[in-house]
Amino acid sequence: MALIVKKPRGTEDVLPRDSYRWQFLEELFRQEARAFGYREIRTPVFEHTNLFERGVGDTTDVVQKEMYTFDTKGGDSVTLRPEGTAGAARAVLEHGLFNDPLPIKAYYLVSCYRYEKPQAGRLREFHQFGMECYGTKHPAADAEMIAAVKSIFDRLGVRGLKLEINSIGCKACRDDYHRALHDYFDQYRDELCDDCKERLERNPMRLLDCKNDHDHEIAASAPTVLEYLCDECREHFEQVQHYLDAAGIRYTVNPRIVRGLDYYSKTVFEFISDDIGAQSTVCGGGRYDALIEDLGGNPLPALGFALGIERLLLTLDAQRIEIPAPAPCELYIGAMGDEASRRAFALCMQLRQAGICAECDVVGRGLRAQMKYADKLHARYCMVLGDNELAQRSAKLKNMLTGEQEEISLDFDAFLSRFAALSAAENYTIPEEM
Ligand code: HAM
Repeated sequence: MALIVKKPRGTEDVLPRDSYRWQFLEELFRQEARAFGYREIRTPVFEHTNLFERGVGDTTDVVQKEMYTFDTKGGDSVTLRPEGTAGAARAVLEHGLFNDPLPIKAYYLVSCYRYEKPQAGRLREFHQFGMECYGTKHPAADAEMIAAVKSIFDRLGVRGLKLEINSIGCKACRDDYHRALHDYFDQYRDELCDDCKERLERNPMRLLDCKNDHDHEIAASAPTVLEYLCDECREHFEQVQHYLDAAGIRYTVNPRIVRGLDYYSKTVFEFISDDIGAQSTVCGGGRYDALIEDLGGNPLPALGFALGIERLLLTLDAQRIEIPAPAPCELYIGAMGDEASRRAFALCMQLRQAGICAECDVVGRGLRAQMKYADKLHARYCMVLGDNELAQRSAKLKNMLTGEQEEISLDFDAFLSRFAALSAAENYTIPEEM
């Protein structure tokens, strides 16, 4: 039988030797979210399909072409989440979180699924860190959301990301814009792809993010939404910019940003990297004041963003920003003979309970092979137990970096206090901040 050794196209494994990079980022995201008053929300990896059809929008590429949708054995249509916003909004409604003090602040770390053509930075299974805030219309909230993302990039030392912002208006002012877009694209109707012909009637804004090259060229000269904003949306967008200016956050207004999902209104924004190729948007977000109502709730303005973790890792690689590797094994205890093996095993267990990463042989290797393995682990300290050491109740502890050795008592309390003092002198914990 052929071995099954190939992962599905567009997915990636994170191996034990690399997972510390993910863990470091995840911890940084959590710290950042906590600092802004956000708590974690966890929602199912699959939802009823109509949540995404209604929430993300059935004229979007995501819903029309990219969803992993299937019928359950019970006959329900469910979909693997293509993004995190719709599920979080559904949970806010289902659990009546709108009764909590506003604004409600929730963050998530999720895997997402989109059946796209894989390329660098574009996967079929990818991961997002996102923050969502419900219950405020105020422009300060838009600026705060953008500031939260910026602060993550700053802490990581990421340089040169471009922040582009736009306002795509509210439902009221968008009617005029839709008419203008319709009139514009109607001249090119025969040249448009079949999807866009349909979008032209149902949601002309979606023509602006069609991935077809020719449609893209036509869209480049289409009217921009900023010319059609109502007074309230214009004022809101100006205020967002004033807050960003006050915080010293640099941005460009790009009237061509419309985002590929239907729920947005007013402010939208993207952080773009020049270092990672065509899939350059590392983070995208914006306001979605009508989504909760569209899902059947009472009006509740909201906004958020999601950052693609794979694209962030690509950016870090391109900028040669290294994530600190975790501390290696702190102590390897080699053993010669059965009695010594059992003592090494027991000592390791005690040390682990004291929070020390200690290892001993569980493979049945001879001493030479054990020490070779300890070397490959980059163990900081090594110690060998044999009959002599057991009889004398002490052993030689070797610092593998410096080669220095010292005699250490095997009496556990004495051992622990000396070992802890040595470890503390060498700072090899993961720093909280880089
Ligand atoms: P999005 O722009 O579709 O927005 O995705 C956000 C980020 O996820 C992108 O900027 C990108 O970094 C990453 N991403 C998207 N698709 C892929 C893919 N196929 N492969 C790798 N990375 C990808 C949303 O998902 C919205 N829910 C964001 C949001 C939250 N808006 C308001 N709240």
